Amino acid sequence: MTRAIRIEPSILAADFVNMEAELQRIATADAVHVDVMDNHFVPNLTFGPEMVTRVQAVSPVPLDVHLMITDADRWAPGYAELGAFSVTFHAEASEDPLALAAALRARGSRAGVALKPATPIDDVVAHLDAYDQILVMTIEPGFGGQSFMDDMLAKIAAVRSAIDAAGAGTWLQVDGGINGATIARAAAAGADTFVAGTSVYGADDPAAAIAALREAAATA
Ligand code: DX5
Ligand code: ZN
Repeated sequence: MTRAIRIEPSILAADFVNMEAELQRIATADAVHVDVMDNHFVPNLTFGPEMVTRVQAVSPVPLDVHLMITDADRWAPGYAELGAFSVTFHAEASEDPLALAAALRARGSRAGVALKPATPIDDVVAHLDAYDQILVMTIEPGFGGQSFMDDMLAKIAAVRSAIDAAGAGTWLQVDGGINGATIARAAAAGADTFVAGTSVYGADDPAAAIAALREAAATA
């Protein structure tokens, strides 16, 4: 497969009180995936803009911010302004996803939209030019360490078909349960951007885990 592959470890699985050192352990990744949760959109709580500002200041790799928060229209632009490379909001969390995506781009960030397992792809693939990245969740968002949902493979393939049919350059990200086995299936279905929390930070050698994921995706 000639498609460019990106590996983005999730700091949700890192040691929060040693974050600077944890970021250095994934310096060979393409980006760091930063899960912002507000205990409303999902039943879990992580951190907000102050923490992400500090991660931005010390991270050796760009920030891929995944917002699992309500009222994304109010809060998402601030993450673009603090310097995040990419900001992804959930489709249900915005009153006007197209306007929000444009606002993120205007602030210098890539614009991503996320789809929970039960969220249809139709509205998003009808406006591919508005988004730089589509995130197909392969778990119910909220917690790391869950199992990859194989029934999302058809959804990944459908988004890939739409991107290719449109000749769009949109990145197709997957998040949840990505490990050395599931990444091959997700890549074969058409994903190119892979979030991995437990399988990277749970490894003795995160750099080796990143390299193994990259190889498994590239050879799928
Ligand atoms: C969960 C988060 C994921 C999480 C993935 O809602 O969006 O990014 O960190 O964790 P693993 O890779 O352990 O499934
Ligand atoms: Zn995530």
